[in-house]
Amino acid sequence: MSTPFVLMVASSDEHFREMVRDNLMNIPNSKVGSEYQEVSGNLYVRVMQDIERHPNSAVIVDLAGDTEAGLKSLERLKQAVPDLYVIVSHYHADGETVIQSMRLGANDFIMQPMRRTDFRDAMARFERAPKRVVTTESKLGKVYTFLGTKGGVGTTTLAVNFASVLAQRKQSVVTVDLDWTANDVAMQLGASPQTTLSDVADNLGRLDQALFESLATRDALGMYSIGPSDTLEQRSYFSEPMFRDFSTFLIEKYDSTVVDAGKNINDEVVAAACQVSSMVFLVVTQEYASIRNAQRYLAMLMRIGFSQDQVKVLVNRYQKKAGSNFASLEQIKQTLNQPVFYGIPETPAFLSALNKARPLVANRQSAPEIDKSIRAMVDKATKPSSSTAEGIAA
Ligand SMILES: Nc1ncnc2c1ncn2[C@@H]1O[C@H](COP(=O)(O)OP(=O)(O)O)[C@@H](O)[C@H]1O
Ligand SMILES: [Mg+2]
Repeated sequence: MSTPFVLMVASSDEHFREMVRDNLMNIPNSKVGSEYQEVSGNLYVRVMQDIERHPNSAVIVDLAGDTEAGLKSLERLKQAVPDLYVIVSHYHADGETVIQSMRLGANDFIMQPMRRTDFRDAMARFERAPKRVVTTESKLGKVYTFLGTKGGVGTTTLAVNFASVLAQRKQSVVTVDLDWTANDVAMQLGASPQTTLSDVADNLGRLDQALFESLATRDALGMYSIGPSDTLEQRSYFSEPMFRDFSTFLIEKYDSTVVDAGKNINDEVVAAACQVSSMVFLVVTQEYASIRNAQRYLAMLMRIGFSQDQVKVLVNRYQKKAGSNFASLEQIKQTLNQPVFYGIPETPAFLSALNKARPLVANRQSAPEIDKSIRAMVDKATKPSSSTAEGIAA
């Protein structure tokens, strides 16, 4: 029995990707982990995110679409993840292409059109290759997405306070508001932005940090935020591929990106945000309607490839008294078949923070106990080996 492995496929050619999928079906214990439709300079960012989930993986890069761009992206990939096993593929096995890709660190080459036996042999070579713990050299940012199971459960409140704590810890932080119906992140931060995600979309092709920071709103805590326009009809302008490019930029340049995803899990941009996230916080309350939705949301997240430990259940407005209207933590855990990551208590302090248009954690004395529990939640989410114990602030 061989160890299970995952293959990532980078090719602009749908036919090529299909061939790989097909061929891999005959190889036991293997599957395609991710497909990248662009062989671009940013490829390494997406690969790095994915190998966090699938440490035993190899990447196959199709150079046939654009040889030069392909070699460039191979170079950056190997710089970022030197131990990654990379197979390249092309129509010509002319000396130059092969030698160049080997110099850039490719581990193997498959000729196109791809023959079944060639593919199988290449997979066998990968399986025999010494397994290295793939560590990444450059440090990529993390994306944390807050997804509400109902309106008013406190998704925006928790996202904003989470981001604020990271900013207070001197991380570079961006909050992205994807709740097109509300634009509440700006409200909770007391900001009145003149620019929106549409401006980001207009400038995606030439986006660098200086330009982005001139478009985003800087908060007193040092973080940047960007969100939708106040006029609802512009939503369609910010598409899923645009979000993917934007998030790649954010992951490359900032320590943390915090997404307020609202509650609309069917939105394709929200789904994409979840997919690029290291953690998705599912915000629930003890109300049955919220728990019921959480069940459906979890099922959907599992369908799009999430593992249980990537989704964290946050119980907001937590009260000890359970009863006919409120589920207990034990009931939530049973119903969702998932541990409760953290509980943030019900408190009027959030409302006074909202009235001041500043995050609760920005004034540490205003509600020390709640402040402490939010910080403990952030600790638990960001500690490398976060314990599995449930953290419930009393
Ligand atoms: N733990 C809590 N205790 C009391 N009120 C809360 C709590 N969390 C949020 N709120 C309040 O609930 C309301 C809705 O919060 P909000 O973050 O806008 O929810 P959502 O984004 O899920 O719609 C706000 O008035 C907020 O201050
Ligand atoms: Mg909200």
